[in-house]
Amino acid sequence: MAEFLDGWKRTDMCGTLGEKDAGREVVLMGWADGRRDFGSLIFVDLRDRTGIVQVVFDISLIGAEPFKKAESIRSEYVLAIKGKVRKRSEDTINDKIATGRVEVVASDLKILAEAETPPFEISDDAPAGEAVRLKYRYLDLRRPSVQRKLMVRNEVCRVARSYLAENGFLEIETPFLGKSTPEGARDYLVPSRINKGCFYALPQSPQLYKQILMISGFDRYYQITKCFRDEDLRANRQPEFTQIDVEMSFVEEEDVMGMMEGLIQRIFKEVKGIELKRPLKRLTYQEAMDRYGSDKPDTRFGLELVDISDIVKDCGFQVFTNAVKSGGSVRLINAKGFYDKLSRRDIDALTDFVKAYKAKGLAWIAFSRDEGIKSAITKFLSDDVQKRIYERAGAEDGDILFFCADKDEVVYSSLGALRLHLGSEYGLYDKEIYDVLWVTDFPLLEYSEEEKRYVAKHHPFTSPKNEDLPLLDTDPPKVRAKAYDMVINGQEVGGGSMRIHKRDVQRKMFKVLEMSEETIQNNFGFFINAFRYGAPPHGGLAFGLDRLTMLLTGAESIRDVIAFPKVQTANDLMTEAPSRVEEKQLKELAIKLDV
Ligand code: AMO
Ligand code: AMP
Repeated sequence: MAEFLDGWKRTDMCGTLGEKDAGREVVLMGWADGRRDFGSLIFVDLRDRTGIVQVVFDISLIGAEPFKKAESIRSEYVLAIKGKVRKRSEDTINDKIATGRVEVVASDLKILAEAETPPFEISDDAPAGEAVRLKYRYLDLRRPSVQRKLMVRNEVCRVARSYLAENGFLEIETPFLGKSTPEGARDYLVPSRINKGCFYALPQSPQLYKQILMISGFDRYYQITKCFRDEDLRANRQPEFTQIDVEMSFVEEEDVMGMMEGLIQRIFKEVKGIELKRPLKRLTYQEAMDRYGSDKPDTRFGLELVDISDIVKDCGFQVFTNAVKSGGSVRLINAKGFYDKLSRRDIDALTDFVKAYKAKGLAWIAFSRDEGIKSAITKFLSDDVQKRIYERAGAEDGDILFFCADKDEVVYSSLGALRLHLGSEYGLYDKEIYDVLWVTDFPLLEYSEEEKRYVAKHHPFTSPKNEDLPLLDTDPPKVRAKAYDMVINGQEVGGGSMRIHKRDVQRKMFKVLEMSEETIQNNFGFFINAFRYGAPPHGGLAFGLDRLTMLLTGAESIRDVIAFPKVQTANDLMTEAPSRVEEKQLKELAIKLDV
């Protein structure tokens, strides 16, 4: 029978006890992590979020009645224990747990709640499958490794708040029920009962609100807040995720980047004890693409891309020449020393691998130490062309060159992915290292085949580089933006930009985006109007808190650092959201279902 506390007050957390506490009387509360029964002696591991401590029930010390109660303890029972801390003898010390040099000899016991046998063992050693863990997330969250991750997340927020407060930022909340404004992903919509047929949209980010706060004169804003995006989920994406969102007035790019470097430096220092060197490394977008085939490069290892378009443009091998002639490129990766690592079958598998990135093939030239050059394409290439390629690639015995010839977009994504694949499969980098860098000078626009027009790469309020302004009229794709992303170990953890604060530039931007006056007014009339009343130069950035925590904890999945995450199908397995609602609710909202 479950008991009440009856005035018992906890004195200590389980995981904090040590030799310093020997001899103290303590009251502990927590969950039974397991029970070992030796007749007149019972050991129970008591667990709370700080750790585990061993409790000893000795029939000769505690008496028959409480001992009987101890015999009924099962895993996950909730217990309150009174007892005395005692040093363990040398031969019983358990180095596997932090409290392993002591144990608590119980003098009294309350069973505060009984528990059914959990559907899986609460253990870090052999965790159950993810589906069952997420269904019973409250049990999964009892696992020490999961709790530790959420504690790190809490630390990141704490450090961010104190750094930003020290630097004069105000935490200001912005609405969740807002206006649908196209910003890239699909909106989550919320029907209005009072305004039938109308919908709120959950914010994809507080972007417009934070800019308006700058126009209102708040000067420096931050918020740790949820963002909602109805996109297809991947390993590092969730439909609702959290941003550390920042905006500053009267600043230029360097000011925002400097302030954010300070923040990330403080987080690494206080959460991981790692001293990040400043200024952080920087790559322009173009450099990142050319060297790593990615705008979020993992620079912990080499295998950089090498452009050989100029060498092969007239070489006679049509796969190569056609790619260059139609405006694309031919690039290669020199997989240094991979001759001994890859069989023919492995190489064929890599060809299939890059096909997922739309590559039409993966030509290769291998340099065997004993048998010389092996390749299906050298017969198409003159000795001179080969020599120049090998020179530029730095090819030596034992290397394999992998080639991709296509539109730049396909070449970058195929070789970029191949590079990451080889890097992780063959352990080319130290997983303990943090590679933190900026990618700058993103293109302002990208061409949308779907919409047959330019669309903003970041958002339509991102400022072009001053020196590129004239190109807006003459050569829009060449215009670079005052936009920057922070990248850690090949993941985009933050992104931001300077915003357009000049009305003539904004007008020009809309023109390039082919937005009609009507679309502009309907979508963000309120926003454009605000700029008529005096907008300071401003800019900001948002960190993805989930991704950042994932990197700081070494978590495999973004779900591991979110208390109640959703799975690939956007379902919450615990609550079973989303779910059907009652007819009455739909009626109130004037909604008829078509499914
Ligand atoms: P952006 O869209 O780049 O910028 O988002 C900022 C950061 O948020 C994280 N992030 C995500 N994390 C998990 N799941 C998702 N679905 C997801 N989408 C984005 C990334 C990303 O770097 N308003 C601008 C910021 C600004 O300009 O100030 C914005 O939202 O880590
Ligand atoms: P083929 O002459 O089409 O048999 O191609 C010869 C080699 O070039 C094969 O190894 C193909 O995988 C490779 N290949 C074909 N198309 C491309 C391409 N666009 N880029 C790189 N390699 C290619």
